[in-house]
Amino acid sequence: MNILIINGPNLNLLGTREPEIYGRETLKEINDWLTVQPEAQKHELKFFQSNHEGEIIDKLHEERNWADGILINPGAFTHYSYAIRDAIESVGVPVVEVHLSDIHNREDFRKVSVIEPVCVKQISGLGKKSYLNGLKTILKSR
Ligand code: DQA
Repeated sequence: MNILIINGPNLNLLGTREPEIYGRETLKEINDWLTVQPEAQKHELKFFQSNHEGEIIDKLHEERNWADGILINPGAFTHYSYAIRDAIESVGVPVVEVHLSDIHNREDFRKVSVIEPVCVKQISGLGKKSYLNGLKTILKSR
């Protein structure tokens, strides 16, 4: 299967961004770790990160025929981007929403995800394992 992994704003700063919340690993280290997991073998993983809402939407559109499943950590867009929500709904590919931190045990504004209703599942609070869990969910859903 072809799996697209999208990371949204500020996730390019992983490693140094609030390490007490997000850990000390860089996004590249997390992506490399995910790539070598047994579950990822025999599947093609493509990674994309952007700080820009429109670029994330463009990527969802561009890869809609390539991707059999998508993992997305939309960062703060999770909480208010109806445009990303609509894009997910439009592409007709199963999408799993993932978060490193537990968004339900932080500030109130993080408890709301406008993306969740159009996703197969939301996985939050497991650190990098949220991505692995998300990958397993996608593989099971097909
Ligand atoms: C995040 C949680 C969001 O609330 C935050 O804006 C992020 C990262 C997470 O992975 O825990 O940028 O999506």
